[in-house]
Amino acid sequence: MQKTKQIEKNAKIVNKFLKSKLKGNPKKLYDAAGHLIIHGGKRLRPYMVIRSCQILGGKVSDAMPAASAVEMVHNFTLVHDDIMDNDEMRHGVPTTHRKYGMPIAILAGDVLFSKAYQVISDTKLSPTATTHIISRLAKACVDVCEGQLLDVKMAEEKKIPTQSQYITMIGKKTAALFDVSCSMGAICATSKDKDISNLSSFGRNLGIAFQITDDLIGVMGDPKITKKPVGNDLREGKKSLPILMAIKLAKGKDKKIILKAFGNSKISRNDLSKAVEVIRSLGIEESVRKQALKYAEKAEKSLSKYSGSAKNELIALLDFVVKRSV
Ligand code: IPE
Ligand code: IPE
Ligand code: MG
Ligand code: MG
Repeated sequence: MQKTKQIEKNAKIVNKFLKSKLKGNPKKLYDAAGHLIIHGGKRLRPYMVIRSCQILGGKVSDAMPAASAVEMVHNFTLVHDDIMDNDEMRHGVPTTHRKYGMPIAILAGDVLFSKAYQVISDTKLSPTATTHIISRLAKACVDVCEGQLLDVKMAEEKKIPTQSQYITMIGKKTAALFDVSCSMGAICATSKDKDISNLSSFGRNLGIAFQITDDLIGVMGDPKITKKPVGNDLREGKKSLPILMAIKLAKGKDKKIILKAFGNSKISRNDLSKAVEVIRSLGIEESVRKQALKYAEKAEKSLSKYSGSAKNELIALLDFVVKRSV
């Protein structure tokens, strides 16, 4: 499943805006802050901000500050996430901490986070709408931190979480930003609570579907397409839905191979690949995608009363999210 032309066109506009905001001295700090951004990324969150604004009759230019801000926040979370997850590659290049070292990577994340608020404070929207957006984004950032801690804590613990605990965790670490992307976009166009909450719920459910699929790609993906290694979630002991399903389903020797790799930072590349192969052979892909689809369908329902091209594009995004391999 390819990204739509619309997503790509939108990404170009957002990139230009981002580039103009991520400049300064010391240059190395800004190079580090822009490192992942210049080497890739789908810009899905800004796309959602813009289309959520348009679906309610707003203009692209009104949504641009919030769209860029959420991409900055997103990249801040990626830089810090790669540190937490001991990941070495993203977007086909070394992660920010590997390329620039730990102190600069931490600061690059901090700069992205801070710039995001600078950018949204400086809009042509009413003061009420601006404050509302700032407050929502701040709440989403708190949720991401809470979700990231749940993710790390679950990975450390031997205990296998329930599917509902997993959904709570991804709801915070990932869906919170998708939710706020859509609600900020809505606020750029309207002050009607019902519209804001419809878009918010669309974003949240899409975000959950997105992370379920992302976790599938984390064990099944082709690194040539995803540009990030496969199997790291398993090595880090991440309690992702596909890993939980695989452990439940595997028997005998297969189970042993998976458990040998699970949460074992010292596992050899070869043994990790073997475990990934076993998971691939279990045929869990369909059931995981079904779960993602369930949330995508919920998301679709939140937009039932709207029409027009922005709606169609948001619905097409759902299709991309559940079918994607990148
Ligand atoms: C990656 O998100 C982090 C997760 C929430 C799984 P994206 O896949 O949207 O990141 P980009 O496209 O590389 O920026
Ligand atoms: C996604 O984290 C959520 C955030 C970055 C906040 P993951 O650790 O699941 O995503 P990838 O696989 O590194 O992109
Ligand atoms: Mg990670
Ligand atoms: Mg992580």
